[in-house]
Amino acid sequence: AGRNLYVKKETGSTNDDAKMAGLNGEAHGTLIVADEQTKGRGRNGRYWHTPKEKNVAMSLLLHPESDPAKAPMLTLVMGLALAQGIEKVCGQKVSIKWPNDIVLDKHKLCGILTEMYLHDGKCDVVIGVGINVNQEEFAPEIADMAGSLFTQTGKEYDRNEVIAQVMNAFEIDYDLFIENENLKLLKNDYEERLINKDKPVKVLDPNGEYQGTALGITDTGELIVEKEDGSRVVINSGEVSVRGL
Ligand code: BTN
Repeated sequence: AGRNLYVKKETGSTNDDAKMAGLNGEAHGTLIVADEQTKGRGRNGRYWHTPKEKNVAMSLLLHPESDPAKAPMLTLVMGLALAQGIEKVCGQKVSIKWPNDIVLDKHKLCGILTEMYLHDGKCDVVIGVGINVNQEEFAPEIADMAGSLFTQTGKEYDRNEVIAQVMNAFEIDYDLFIENENLKLLKNDYEERLINKDKPVKVLDPNGEYQGTALGITDTGELIVEKEDGSRVVINSGEVSVRGL
């Protein structure tokens, strides 16, 4: 992945650029990087702030041969690659908050927004990644949850180095994903970093809330939670939110 690279000074959203690239027939593995986004998009319709030349905003275009229904797993593959790439750059172990927030010392460093498009009978997957690298300040209302590599380690980092390390990790992880078209071969690396593993969590789902212990993930990326009565539930991202206690 990442063989074709487009770098932009400013754009609306690299996810939109990658979608266009897909419509224009760009190859599997095309990566679009921007120094600044004016309409960066987060999950659930939220805005994603990308200040000029501070952070990484990039989107990877894939034409997976696997079933489009498996695309959500690619978000977890990218989450793991982000953790591994960032660890290489900053020399510290980072955690993954299921499904795919990357956390260093309780502050979220990265976000992933995966989008899928069907056109001409093919499925394009766009994995958008925002990494807070050298951003110095966060709005007061998010400052205790959000951070950057700079705010968490006190050092500045080369953004290109961050991109290279993350994409190198993704390339390896993607091949391991393709082998079984699931996360079986990545599960250990993922669970090693899972923030609530073997710890109490509160699960909020549309049917109410309950407490349990997060045990790990399934081969397809669902979180396994053991309830207080000993029964196990397997939860999907999307409908639920999981919090540490
Ligand atoms: C989240 O809400 O946690 C996901 C944030 C994803 C942000 C990235 S930045 C690059 C790409 N382009 C966008 O507009 N969004 C994603």
